[in-house]
Amino acid sequence: MNKLVFGLQWGDEGKAKIVDILSKDADFIVRYQGGANAGHTVVTDKKKFIFHLVPSGLLYKQTRGILGAGMVIDIPGLVEEIENLEKNGLEIWPRLIISPRAHLVLQYHKYQDVLEDEQKGIGTTSKGIGPTYEDKAARRGLRAADLLDTKKFKQKVEEQLALKNNIFTKLYNREPMALEEVLAPYISHIEKIKPIIKSTPDIIHEAIENNSNILFEGAQGTMLDIDWGTYPYVTSSNSSAAGLHSCTGVPLKYIDEVIGLTKAYTTRVGGGPFPTELDETTAQKIRGTGENIGDEYGSTTGRPRRCGWLDLFALKYAIKINSIHSIALSKIDMLDEFDTIKICTHYQLNGKPINSMPSLYSDLADVRPVYEELPGWERPVKGIKKINELPENAIKFIKFIEINAGVPIHYISTAPDREAIISLK
Ligand code: IMP
Repeated sequence: MNKLVFGLQWGDEGKAKIVDILSKDADFIVRYQGGANAGHTVVTDKKKFIFHLVPSGLLYKQTRGILGAGMVIDIPGLVEEIENLEKNGLEIWPRLIISPRAHLVLQYHKYQDVLEDEQKGIGTTSKGIGPTYEDKAARRGLRAADLLDTKKFKQKVEEQLALKNNIFTKLYNREPMALEEVLAPYISHIEKIKPIIKSTPDIIHEAIENNSNILFEGAQGTMLDIDWGTYPYVTSSNSSAAGLHSCTGVPLKYIDEVIGLTKAYTTRVGGGPFPTELDETTAQKIRGTGENIGDEYGSTTGRPRRCGWLDLFALKYAIKINSIHSIALSKIDMLDEFDTIKICTHYQLNGKPINSMPSLYSDLADVRPVYEELPGWERPVKGIKKINELPENAIKFIKFIEINAGVPIHYISTAPDREAIISLK
């Protein structure tokens, strides 16, 4: 069985937990786009593990992880992450494969990211994601395959740095970067990385022929997709199902089950339009203080997330363009404290209902969300593992989403820990 899991909102939909559940039976976990802008936290009974580039499904010993061609990889960051996970008892090196086609994030990309974002105000993660994809599209990027010949790699970095230093000094009036600063963190890791660079489509297609179980994992979410998200307030890759084929060489026809994730409400980090965003006092009630696992603070940047009611209009749009089979609904327990809960069913623009998702962010910023108000549940749902133990109003809330979205909900997560999940499959 091959499965695809990814977010239907603006990222942070609780993918790590669902990926963790689906990884139990997986032989391969494939990440296909993005880079260290992603952050997954998995809480086991013993420890808390944080993943940025390594697929979180590698918590299970039988799995192998693949970093696909559509990814942008910061090698020093990856090595540090692998070594931290190994210190915590996980064996990662022999189980990880990197596509030779994946692009490399270098120190100058991170610097460029910060400088560009000072002007654009997208609120990026400063991980160099946008500038690395810019270089990819401009056909001057460095790829994992370039690490196989150290001499040529050094030459290419030197050439690229000359271009970047022009930008830093002339466009931004900043200091140039020294070659050593860019090269040194890479050179010390090249020999460790070389053996794990292997042709990934061959490995994946062989696994498909052998009927292995493969889990494909998207990072960020549909509304951050470069083509289908709230452009320009998006990430720079296809973070919807659209990325699967181009980023792995595996068409959607090989996928048996496509699972889209949504929270029971909405969050986003960084700038950009957010129709159902709540006022700060109500938002804080969802966000929490940051002391509890599950509070709404970014696991990569620690930034407080903007919080809003569930946006069914955006969700239905995401479902349409991704062609999903089922929904995993996360963090329903975060609404335990509310007497009433709102769900946005449609948008109005200039006083009239609209039928399609605006493509201009300025229009999206101007829409008025129209809400349905549902009663809250009388007792907490936190930690509940059986559907028939949920309060009646929580079931009504879930049914409301299911009926309006037109897709069955197969998983409901009721607390951060691994076991707190209702499985309806
Ligand atoms: P970038 O991907 O770092 O370029 O950031 C572009 C936008 O995507 C910013 O608004 C980020 O906050 C957002 N973003 C990037 N990665 C994630 C993620 O993993 N979760 C949620 N938002 C993200």
